[in-house]
Amino acid sequence: MTVVTLTINDRLISAKKGSTILEAAEDADIFIPTLCRLKGLSPRGGCRLCLVEVEGSPRLTASCITQAQEGMVVRTETETLGRYRRMIIELLLTERNHVCAVCVMNGRCELQRMAARLGVDHVRYEYRYPDLAVDASHERHVRDPNRCILCARCVRVCDEVEGAHTLDMMGRGIHTNVITGMNIPWGKTRSCTSCGKCVQVCPTGAIFSKGTGVAEMEKRQDFLAWILSGRDDNIWNWGE
Ligand code: SF4
Ligand code: SF4
Ligand code: FES
Repeated sequence: MTVVTLTINDRLISAKKGSTILEAAEDADIFIPTLCRLKGLSPRGGCRLCLVEVEGSPRLTASCITQAQEGMVVRTETETLGRYRRMIIELLLTERNHVCAVCVMNGRCELQRMAARLGVDHVRYEYRYPDLAVDASHERHVRDPNRCILCARCVRVCDEVEGAHTLDMMGRGIHTNVITGMNIPWGKTRSCTSCGKCVQVCPTGAIFSKGTGVAEMEKRQDFLAWILSGRDDNIWNWGE
């Protein structure tokens, strides 16, 4: 195995050649916040929460899509990074309707947890409060775009792991949305296998199981590692 050595927060770290900065940091127990990234799915680099400072680079770098290089000097905790990360969370909170008190994921939501961890106790921007239609046409799952942060985890798991590609993104900028089928109601799509993988990986209350009330939804993301190691190595040990 070829190894590269880099410095993260004044610590010398060894990482497997080809690892991202984020993977190198995680292996060394250094926390970098993420939202769109989920182990087992392809990297997207969309949320920008995982930004870090790399010495010699004039701009902030998304650590989930940047390879660790020999001799790199990285900082993951600076005043500038803290400011940007809080701003990203504030913008996500104001872009759609994140009223936690009436959300199925209240208390278990990754956006909520990240906001608390990064010290976002108020937002400085105006709320947009778009009025987006909830799709409850599927017999088992509901999609509420008002809670969506456009991380595309659902789109990737449906395509890359389930192989159904029922979900996709449509539109640009502020008008981007997750769609089902060719933008038809979810319950009318023929490709959806009702596997529920999208439900489990969605970090917020934007996709949830039918019949779950406020603060009731629990999600299991560990199934991804189980499926992927099962397929690669024929090891099926979930729950052991
Ligand atoms: S339930 Fe499964 S097949 Fe249907 S949209 Fe979700 S991930 Fe895709
Ligand atoms: S529905 Fe959930 S998983 Fe899909 S993009 Fe929105 S927040 Fe992410
Ligand atoms: S985790 Fe890197 S951009 Fe979202």
